[in-house]
Amino acid sequence: MDSILIQGERRLDGVVRISGAKNSALPILASTLLNQGTFTLTNVPRVMDVFTMSKLLTHLGAAVDIQEDRFTVSVKEAQSFAAPYELVKTMRASVLVLGPLLARCGEALVSLPGGCAIGARPINLHLAALQQMGAEVSIEHGNVQARVNGRLKGARICFDLQTVTGTENIMMAACLADGTTVLENAAREPEVADLAQFLNKRGARISGAGTDVITIEGVTALHGGDHEIVPDRIETGTYLIAGAITRGDVQIERCRPDHCEALLAKLREAGAVLTVEKESVRIRSDARLKAVDVKTLPYPGFPTDMQAQMMALMTLADGPSVITESVFESRFIHVLELQRMGADISIEGNHAVVTGNERLSGAPVMASDLRASACLVVAGLAAEGETRIGRVYHLDRGYERLEEKLSGLGAKIRRVKEAA
Ligand code: EPZ
Repeated sequence: MDSILIQGERRLDGVVRISGAKNSALPILASTLLNQGTFTLTNVPRVMDVFTMSKLLTHLGAAVDIQEDRFTVSVKEAQSFAAPYELVKTMRASVLVLGPLLARCGEALVSLPGGCAIGARPINLHLAALQQMGAEVSIEHGNVQARVNGRLKGARICFDLQTVTGTENIMMAACLADGTTVLENAAREPEVADLAQFLNKRGARISGAGTDVITIEGVTALHGGDHEIVPDRIETGTYLIAGAITRGDVQIERCRPDHCEALLAKLREAGAVLTVEKESVRIRSDARLKAVDVKTLPYPGFPTDMQAQMMALMTLADGPSVITESVFESRFIHVLELQRMGADISIEGNHAVVTGNERLSGAPVMASDLRASACLVVAGLAAEGETRIGRVYHLDRGYERLEEKLSGLGAKIRRVKEAA
């Protein structure tokens, strides 16, 4: 397993270019299973989760050719409709093949994704919606077994709560359903809209994606298509916080600031100076930031995937801040590691009370999930001395060329091999 070593207290300065969104590439890759054809995807982030999804598509009979950030997917006759535990256990987003396989093949067998460090992560809402569309769904030996005779039926589905991959799974399945499906209380994330745009290029009839009511008129077949993946708003936010926590001057290129409004508002409230253009944002902060309160919410609220990184920033802010995690039930595992670095944080239920200090001290810490790892990286950039982050495979799941991009901004960061 690799570790990352960071020598802290170095101000970041320069330009960084954002990659495509992991959480858009994953459903978009899964959606290629909806029909035979060839699909050329560009701006695809070369991260572990995307390679895992590509492996799953290959297992299911597709061919995936990767040239830099260009993925060409060729889907022929379905060779299998079973997503095995060996693959699903490494990436819960594998559940995104359930809707496409069921819609196209009339059956699907997908291993139940386990929970993870941030919560139980059930998929009950995905399954209830498919049952409403006429599928027979059962759980057998840890697998979801779904079947439908003929086509799925269009239905009016109101999600109990906003689920991103639940919305994506059902939107994909509804593309080939007989009749119209209306999704109410749908997730509004930009990645949902990016997927809908790709599906509509292929002949789907989806309207309302990006709002909380999405209407899908079923068609009998889709065709091939090309697509450029939308920039990653969470990677963007991570570099914004890296610039702020080191009191630097960082220009972020090829991003979508309009997808980051909630974070930008909080950074401004804390005193960072932001210059926003259509596809770039510059952050400067040469003084200690003010403490601000944050509550995570479904999009367009403050993203839960930025909660840990924001908490790292608040450990050095002036005053107390209350950080409330309202999306996942246990997404404070990074608190323990930040406390090892000298952060003053106390947890009350789903609230973390952070009292800003003047300094963090570098320490050996352990990554536990993708965004908690990112939090430890940004904390290490500002901390006194050396921070050693173990189990960085978590980071590799969702951040492309992290060391290279941060080194390009002046960080002193390198990867070391650890004895197994
Ligand atoms: C997506 O996960 C993202 N992953 C997550 O990003 C992100 O944190 C999350 O949305 C919230 O924004 C991908 O897009 C691949 P949810 P998802 O269904 O779809 C509950 C990252 O770091 N729920 O929107 O799995 C669930 O437990 C990852 O990139 C049910 O109860 O999240 C949670 O409390 C981490 N039943 C809430 O809804 C269900 O059937 C939101 O989860 C589905 C969800």
